[in-house]
Amino acid sequence: MKLEELRPLVGVGRQLYVETYGCQMNVSDSEILVSIMQDEGYRYTENIAEADVILVNTCSIRDNAEQRIWGRLNEFRRYKKARKNLVVGVVGCMAERLREELLNDGVVDIVAGPDAYRDMPRLVAMAIGGSHGVNVELSQEETYGDIRPVRLDKNGVNAFISIMRGCNNFCAYCVVPYTRGRERSRDPYTIVREAKELFEAGYRDVTLLGQNVNSYSWKPEDGGEVDFPDLVAMVADVSPLLRVRFATSHPKDLSDKLIDVMASLPNVCRAVHLPAQSGSNRMLTAMNRKYTREWYLGRLAAIRRKMPDCAISTDLIAGFCGETEEDHAQTLLLMREVGYDSAYMFKYSQRPGTQAARHMEDDIPEDVKTARLNEIIELQNELSLASNRRDMGKCFEVLVEGASRRSCKQLCGRTSQNKMVVFDAADGIKAGDYIVVKITDCTLATLFGEIVK
Ligand code: SAH
Ligand code: SF4
Ligand code: F3S
Repeated sequence: MKLEELRPLVGVGRQLYVETYGCQMNVSDSEILVSIMQDEGYRYTENIAEADVILVNTCSIRDNAEQRIWGRLNEFRRYKKARKNLVVGVVGCMAERLREELLNDGVVDIVAGPDAYRDMPRLVAMAIGGSHGVNVELSQEETYGDIRPVRLDKNGVNAFISIMRGCNNFCAYCVVPYTRGRERSRDPYTIVREAKELFEAGYRDVTLLGQNVNSYSWKPEDGGEVDFPDLVAMVADVSPLLRVRFATSHPKDLSDKLIDVMASLPNVCRAVHLPAQSGSNRMLTAMNRKYTREWYLGRLAAIRRKMPDCAISTDLIAGFCGETEEDHAQTLLLMREVGYDSAYMFKYSQRPGTQAARHMEDDIPEDVKTARLNEIIELQNELSLASNRRDMGKCFEVLVEGASRRSCKQLCGRTSQNKMVVFDAADGIKAGDYIVVKITDCTLATLFGEIVK
């Protein structure tokens, strides 16, 4: 045993509470963070009242995301007053962006960026010793590839696997390249190992995560390359009973090879999240998205040619700099043309330091942004309902996730298309099982059905 392995673990006897905001990547990062802290002796708790260390994993994507977290930090003053030795740390994207402001706030002891989590035990030890623990260094290499995340989810069926970090795309509106640094891919063998371990532990649905999974690339020293379609095939090969999903796909990099690999593997889910952001070419250029509406529709047609039953979802931004009524109308038209199954829809929020903040005017009045967003949401509600109505009478293979939220006599699970189905419980059917359900009813958010097999 090496001498350093004999040192006392800082965390022994201390409880760690973690609160997570933002995207799936943050959810996955919190699981990595807990793993690192448990190795140092900390015990994870879901009860904030008994925590010795509170970590808040934060998001900067829109101003309201940050405002919510400031509000939450304010509430922590109360806990700090009650418990003198309580340590509060802010980690994630907002930590990277707002280090000084956070440290000056008076509540925050630790600020750690997304690439600094291995350093967390030292940062907490510093805070316990009475100084600030700060590390917002971004890395070109860190992927946490060797770390086994501690699963914080409840159902034991779905899990995220982070396959890459950072982003090189610099969409004009987006803060992510600044908070998460340059793109880098994780060793595929550690990814497959993680998928295998999850499968053996009973998990049946894994989502491969990255800001732009289509640019995943691993080049071993002895030559060759593992690209994203190769990786999908490797993970799908773990078991035919393991469903594989991924997010997010940048339309500019979605290859025919990926479509072919998906189509050839039934356990790769029939769902692609393909954020369009806008239906107007003028806006897409201003946003630096590097594709046109025509390219986007071409990719979509290619997906549907090979997988007619593939669900398509998207992200849309209303009221980006210079957006005219005509541009907005183009977005609505695109939505109708595609007939999205679901969408995440946002009002443009200017983020300091981005290309848009530096070079463009945030010139769409708030009430116009709101009105356009509402039109987009209203249309999507109509499209989601239409999409669910098309499923009525059809049978789908459903992966059971557990009790439905409304009633313990009902179970819920997802189709390959990522739609939630609720059905009456039956003897012997439990989370992790595959069953066949016939759809008998729907709302715009949920399908209802009965078990046929
Ligand atoms: N990497 C993913 C998206 C990550 S952010 C991708 O490229 O698709 C998730 C979504 O937030 C984006 O797709 C975009 O629709 C939205 N978003 C990002 N920055 C925004 C901003 N400044 N204002 C409003 N919405 C924004
Ligand atoms: Fe942001 Fe664009 Fe990167 Fe997505 S691809 S994280 S929207 S910069
Ligand atoms: Fe938010 Fe950072 Fe994710 S800004 S959306 S937590 S990458």
